Amino acid sequence: MCGIVGYVGPKEATPIILNGLKRLEYRGYDSAGIAVIADDQVELRRNVGKLENLERHVQERPLFGHLGVGHTRWATHGQVLERNAHPHISMDGRYVVVHNGIVENYLELREQLKSRGVVFTSDTDTEVIVHLIAEFGAQGLDLTEATRQTCLLLRGAAAIVVLSGSQPDRLIAVRVGNAGGVTIGIGEGEMFIASDMPAILEHTRRMIFLESRQMITVTAAGYQMQTLTAEPIKPQIHNISWDPVSAARGEYRHFMQKEMFEQARSITDTIRGRIDFASGCVELPDLILNEEEARRLKRIVTVACGTSLNSGLVGKFMLEKLAQIPVETDYGSEYRYRDPILDPDCAVLAITQSGETVDTLAAMEEARNKGAKLWSIVNVIGSQAMRSADGHITMQAGPEIGVCSTKTFTTSIVDQYLLALYLGQLRGTLTADQMRQYAADLAKLPDLVGRVIDSAPQIEELAEQLYRYEDFLYLGRGINYPIALEGALKLKEISYIHAEGYPAGEMKHGPIALIDEKLPVLTICVKDAVYEKMISQIEQAKARRGIVIAVATEGDQFIASKADHVMYVPEAPELLSPILTVLPLQLLAYYIAVRRGCDVDQPRNLAKSVTVE
Ligand code: G6P
Repeated sequence: MCGIVGYVGPKEATPIILNGLKRLEYRGYDSAGIAVIADDQVELRRNVGKLENLERHVQERPLFGHLGVGHTRWATHGQVLERNAHPHISMDGRYVVVHNGIVENYLELREQLKSRGVVFTSDTDTEVIVHLIAEFGAQGLDLTEATRQTCLLLRGAAAIVVLSGSQPDRLIAVRVGNAGGVTIGIGEGEMFIASDMPAILEHTRRMIFLESRQMITVTAAGYQMQTLTAEPIKPQIHNISWDPVSAARGEYRHFMQKEMFEQARSITDTIRGRIDFASGCVELPDLILNEEEARRLKRIVTVACGTSLNSGLVGKFMLEKLAQIPVETDYGSEYRYRDPILDPDCAVLAITQSGETVDTLAAMEEARNKGAKLWSIVNVIGSQAMRSADGHITMQAGPEIGVCSTKTFTTSIVDQYLLALYLGQLRGTLTADQMRQYAADLAKLPDLVGRVIDSAPQIEELAEQLYRYEDFLYLGRGINYPIALEGALKLKEISYIHAEGYPAGEMKHGPIALIDEKLPVLTICVKDAVYEKMISQIEQAKARRGIVIAVATEGDQFIASKADHVMYVPEAPELLSPILTVLPLQLLAYYIAVRRGCDVDQPRNLAKSVTVE
């Protein structure tokens, strides 16, 4: 949820930057900072807490200058302290960096820099970036090239803005992967940079959106864009309309598209501040749970509806494996009608994007009456499900406008992964090494998510071949069985095509009767413990002339010889694989619905928040 705003032009930079950051306040943050260049000198102000603290600081010690950058930070690496707030500055005080995202290999880079005499002043992953740029600068590289060389050394997804007293007329912005957007606003003799368009919309409507692995150098007079491999690019300039809805949708045709495409970022936001990657320790203070209570827990019951229920079905695998607690899942709408057995050593976990789904709230009430501990995972802050639970975890996905849930599906799974790690830590079911490994796996996730999203054009082509079919079967097994359910749900919701999700092993007990040359069969067949079994399901579907589409692991050529179409996802640890395998299915449902001319954001008969039984 970090915000970035940069300015270069004839006006005073500080008020423009502070106002821009204010417009991003809704995204949440815990500290803020600003750097401005005056007379070739870099001046920095940083404060913990709200922007007012920074504003007061700037009033007491004003910052004058026509080029600068500001940042609101939501902690990932390192506590909420002034020294961890952005911008970060090099040892010689000449280079400044702000950053959104996670530098996955920062520990390694930090050690290398330390061995070369660099002294670190923060606990952040970001600080390695500024020291690397300064090192390249000291070797005589100009600011753009020093930044480019540095980015080539970073692993993970990141959005970065850089400035330097050595070339005080320019800002460099880079986007690596999908950690967060970088929007460039083109003004008259001035230029703006922002992580989110609303920060700069009052100044200009002419925007450039950086794609992954692109960078731009901006001065008051213009800009130059290139790839990270130094190939020049002619950017596409978008004229953003004045209507506020189109403005919020930005470069995307639908909110659902925007929300799918921002998942690398929303997942990063979900992880933020909750895990220490060096130790693997998780902190979930809003859960209000102590070690003794965690050790006493005998069972978790997850209650939810729709997409949130499918998320709970994935979470069950995580909680059982990492925290060694049996988990049941149930429909919110069914739970209270079966007189459930609960006691104070059971926790009922309600998952609900809106926090207002009446069936889920009713299940929570049942749990409350029966004396169970009550937790919720919610996206909407202050919602009923958040208020009425004993403890909660927020998804931190930002507003989800499309009726069909996408980014809140993946972020609520990440929340359950964090919950499983946290309970595992408190209950002593995980060793320190395991904790670190699971944390390292999580750190890689946003980048992997971004890579799947980058394959959207191929999935759009596949949709072109499939959109006329009227029935689909989705098959998955193990932790990817809920993804078959979710894939089918997405297609039904927005394209009005009949689709069923099934555990693959059940195919032979019924659905197999449906298979013929008119039935596309979507199989999730990544390289995991059930890979061979899934291959055999594919063979059976093919033997009956079904059209087989597989979601498979990158590099798996064998599957290409078995299935009619393949959508690849990068290799990932089994527990996190559902977060990747669901993405092609979301995208496919979306492109099919668009091709059929459906109202993607507001599908018929559906509501974003269902407050009636
Ligand atoms: C509605 C929405 C679904 C959503 C479900 C549960 O049916 O159309 O997209 O999954 O409600 O919503 P919740 O807010 O509780 O997650």
